[in-house]
Amino acid sequence: MDKTKNLKFGVIGVGRIGKIHIENLAHRIPGNEVTAIADVFEDELQNVARQYNISMAVQDYKEIIENPEIDAVVICSPTDTHSQIIQQSAIAGKNVFCEKPVDLSLEKIAKTIKVTEDACVKFQVGFNRRFDPNFFQVYKTVKAGKIGKPQVLKITSRDPAPPPLDYLKISGGMFLDMTIHDFDMARYLMDSEVVEVYTSGKVLVDPVFEQAGDVDTAITILKFETGAIGTIDNSRQAVYGYDQRVEVFGSEGMVTVKNNTPDNHIYLNREGTHSALPLNFFMDRYTESYLKEMEAFIDCIRNDQLPSVSGRDGLLSVIIGMAAKQSCQENRPVKLSEIYDFKN
Ligand SMILES: NC(=O)c1ccc[n+]([C@@H]2O[C@H](COP(=O)([O-])OP(=O)(O)OC[C@H]3O[C@@H](n4cnc5c(N)ncnc54)[C@H](O)[C@@H]3O)[C@@H](O)[C@H]2O)c1
Repeated sequence: MDKTKNLKFGVIGVGRIGKIHIENLAHRIPGNEVTAIADVFEDELQNVARQYNISMAVQDYKEIIENPEIDAVVICSPTDTHSQIIQQSAIAGKNVFCEKPVDLSLEKIAKTIKVTEDACVKFQVGFNRRFDPNFFQVYKTVKAGKIGKPQVLKITSRDPAPPPLDYLKISGGMFLDMTIHDFDMARYLMDSEVVEVYTSGKVLVDPVFEQAGDVDTAITILKFETGAIGTIDNSRQAVYGYDQRVEVFGSEGMVTVKNNTPDNHIYLNREGTHSALPLNFFMDRYTESYLKEMEAFIDCIRNDQLPSVSGRDGLLSVIIGMAAKQSCQENRPVKLSEIYDFKN
């Protein structure tokens, strides 16, 4: 492709995450433009179009896919729309960045991967945490062998507040919407596949989760192919903010990441020692990672390389999520091979 030419993007869905990607593409990454946006919610669509001076703002995303000017689409609509939009975009020759999860059906994800491969377009899944500078440092430390053989992984991942009920109902539940990031981080940081999970989940925050057939608090034990073990500790509500910590312990040492705070002052008085609370939520905590994952996607398009976060990563995280859900419901360890035929 012509490397001097601006890449033209269409963003589908201009809600919470769509706005983050639009801001990065329009203002923070040079050499790109957001040529078109789509959203079924007309008011918000027009607000965003005005704010970023985007001339093509449509309710039907297919108009974006049919626009020959567009090089790539960024899919930020609700999860139940993803696989269809990915497939239609790929068939139309668009490179695709899609938010997690790819879909809630393994058959649909497998088909989606095949369609993107057959169409020879770039397909990257939005596992942004891999691009967080802190977690990337953990990855590099483990990968370089500096902690020896990884033995134990500990992930703490707690949201500051639950999402609205409408979102919950179509999100796929805690394991496929929220913990899915942690499942991806587990595979990434340990450089090993998960083979079994054992999850205990409860409704301890808000009975509304019960209505949605979901849990709001869970502990998951992971077993990795290498023999290592891990835990993921989730809550939908940490009253002190967005609690995002990671630790990998190995035969030669340990590497850990604390929460990010707006500043690092420490104040002491008669009552005790005080410091800032963690950054409030994903929009603040993972700002840098959203920028870096989009830069990586653009590099892949410009230099004709495969994205480092693939459709297969999207598939595996959903398989782990489904195993966790089943484990929680049946109160027993579940092997991933019970969920998906890996010989396929
Ligand atoms: N990577 C992350 O950190 C992260 C964070 C939040 C959300 N997400 C994912 O992004 C997706 C969107 O989440 P959100 O929190 O931004 O939701 P949201 O509800 O804030 O935004 C979704 C937008 O899509 C629009 N929409 C619905 N159907 C559409 C269609 N057919 N065509 C075009 N637009 C449509 C809605 O009107 C809404 O404006 C979900 O799949 C979610 O899992 C990822």
